[in-house]
Amino acid sequence: MQVVETSADLRAQLREWREEGDDIAVVPTMGNLHAGHVSLVELARQLADRVVVTLFVNPTQFSPDEDFAEYPRTRDRDSMRLRKIGADVLFAPDVETMYPFGIDNATTVSVPGLTKDLCGTSRPGHFDGVTSVVARLFALVQADVAVFGQKDYQQQLVIRRMVADLNLPIEIVTAPTVREEDGLAMSSRNAYLSDEERAIAPLLFSTLSNVKDKLQSGNRDYAALEEQASLALAAGGFVPEYVAIRRAADLGTPQDDSNKLVVLAAARLGQARLIDNVELTL
Ligand code: PAJ
Repeated sequence: MQVVETSADLRAQLREWREEGDDIAVVPTMGNLHAGHVSLVELARQLADRVVVTLFVNPTQFSPDEDFAEYPRTRDRDSMRLRKIGADVLFAPDVETMYPFGIDNATTVSVPGLTKDLCGTSRPGHFDGVTSVVARLFALVQADVAVFGQKDYQQQLVIRRMVADLNLPIEIVTAPTVREEDGLAMSSRNAYLSDEERAIAPLLFSTLSNVKDKLQSGNRDYAALEEQASLALAAGGFVPEYVAIRRAADLGTPQDDSNKLVVLAAARLGQARLIDNVELTL
């Protein structure tokens, strides 16, 4: 596996692969790789001949009071891990490569609507940062397919919308959430949890699973279910931001005939902001 830092080196490698007729998958990450990321790379290997994993802690998707400075940076360990699982290139650009005109002068890509709700409410500007960097990564890597995690449910929907709206020639594949044995969704931010918080953390997934069970048993009082789940999280020691039952396809409020739903939540636990979601079919 090659580690590539510049767009020129990346292009040279891509040209070689294209001449050989290989198709390419990309897996965008911010590094500090865990088994969730690894599952995306493994899926990408099944979808294309070549896999590029990108590693860039994107400053524009963090607001000034967020954890950009503390975000764990473990590039050497990440690259060893990727080598073992057969990624072809780790593309690890610096800020100047990603934002050649500077962050303040950067062209932004912004998806309206979908980004204003849920995580968009508590993290204003976050999704603009995500779409602006993912559009750049797509332009640089020119992959045929990109793999994202369901863990960031709203993010993968926003990216799908951007790709559809701009007619970007790339297929988006969403991979299931990888969890610890006790149900906690794997996340780089789990590292911020103390031992005591780590013991509480699985309550997020169990609370969402509980809402799913109730929906599947016929309960349709969405507001009450959301409220009860929020209270359960707060009683367990979380500070909930939202628990929301939405249509899986577009995060709209479910109608009587909506049968594919998703239950999403964001909640703080100590220093960590955790998100999770479960999909269900009625
Ligand atoms: P990051 O948080 O590093 O996540 C990279 C990819 O891994 C995302 O698609 C995310 O959904 C997926 N992922 C994270 N935890 C997962 C889990 N437990 N199971 C399965 N997949 C998981 O998401 C980002 O980075 C950034 O916003 C990025 C898209 C790279 C743009 O900067």
